Amino acid sequence: MANIIKIIDGFSFIPREEHTLLEAMEAQQLVTEYQCRQGYCGACQVELINGNIKYTEEPIAFTPKGRILACCAKPTSDITIELPYPVKRKTGEI
Ligand code: FES
Repeated sequence: MANIIKIIDGFSFIPREEHTLLEAMEAQQLVTEYQCRQGYCGACQVELINGNIKYTEEPIAFTPKGRILACCAKPTSDITIELPYPVKRKTGEI
């Protein structure tokens, strides 16, 4: 069953199963922050408000409690996240 990703102050969408959270947000044309895309730098951190994720590979970057690395996380349930920056589409604000 497909999981729903809800972004606080944004909108909800259903990601493709093979996408990481970062890839899913990019597929929605959202502006995202990242650097390494491999769990090393921590630049892609978002707040996990509720729901569960699994990592595609165990990340090395430190993440404070409640935060996850979008580049290597996949939802295993419906999730709600909060971005540490304004939610925007590449074509303009939502
Ligand atoms: S982009 Fe570097 S940890 Fe996700």
